[in-house]
Amino acid sequence: MMTAKPRILITRRWPQAVERVLAERFDTVLNEEDRPLDRSALADALRNFDAVLPTVSDRLPADVFTGGGLRTRILGNFGVGYNHIDAGAAKEAGIVVTNTPGVLTDCTADLAVSLLLAAARRTGEGERQVRAGAWEGWRPTHMIGTKVTGKTLGIIGFGRIGKAMAKRCHFGFDMDIVFYNRSRVAPEEAARFGARQLDTVEDVLKAADFVSLHCPGGGENRHLINAARLAAMKPGAYLINTARGDVVDEEALIEALEKGVIRGAGLDVYEAEPDVPTRLRALENVVLLPHLGSATEETRTAMGMKVVDNITAFFAGLEPPDRVT
Ligand code: DGY
Repeated sequence: MMTAKPRILITRRWPQAVERVLAERFDTVLNEEDRPLDRSALADALRNFDAVLPTVSDRLPADVFTGGGLRTRILGNFGVGYNHIDAGAAKEAGIVVTNTPGVLTDCTADLAVSLLLAAARRTGEGERQVRAGAWEGWRPTHMIGTKVTGKTLGIIGFGRIGKAMAKRCHFGFDMDIVFYNRSRVAPEEAARFGARQLDTVEDVLKAADFVSLHCPGGGENRHLINAARLAAMKPGAYLINTARGDVVDEEALIEALEKGVIRGAGLDVYEAEPDVPTRLRALENVVLLPHLGSATEETRTAMGMKVVDNITAFFAGLEPPDRVT
């Protein structure tokens, strides 16, 4: 007996190779326009598809899961971070949520390094100057930045990406690495990355010349970096955020950058993406990227294939490998 293929909504365009595999295995509907879906489109999707494959641009708060009539049984999130989904509410509605850990570790850490270097060495400012035809030539005091080699890097969140960042900065730039992590990490494990665990976020902020955030967003991490914690950083320090925008109180960060409480920042993520406050965009001492952490062909394809594996397992009656609820 032929059973119908599960009906799947892919909320954005994905790498073609993955779209092809999904189309072979499932009855897929693609958001051809590649625009973010609004709340009502997502609420409809939950009532008309067996699986919905969202990304960070799709907000799925608790109330989209209420009201009954849900057909969706799995949300195969394209991304490791899933704080745009109220996973508790999804679970209560009987919907499984999966994510894509592991495959974006290297590329996200690479991007954090590039933001750290760009902020310290003012490469964004330099590029803007050259493009504007405003460069007046070499001089000893032109666009002086901060040396990276040998400095102290503070990492908040010592998971896969935090460790990859530590490895790059310790072995590549001879940096001293300190970190804060909610649970204890065995000292021998930390030592593999040239790193040392400190007891509190404040201990890390006080010690570090660069602070790089690698913890999940949402929940208790919302505004983990607030005005008081920015004030606890060294005045010459830099903040790097490739985690989630809401980990930093953006308003407090803008104030700190405007007043020179810290020296600079490198940001890939924002509180209300894709809106980036005008005051932030006006500052020279911040490097701003459009959420590119995992944006390589290899990684985005691998993320898509992880989603394929998760929903394939689920519809075969098996445990999805990356189930989060
Ligand atoms: C991730 O995987 O969390 C990326 O930030 C894209 O959502």
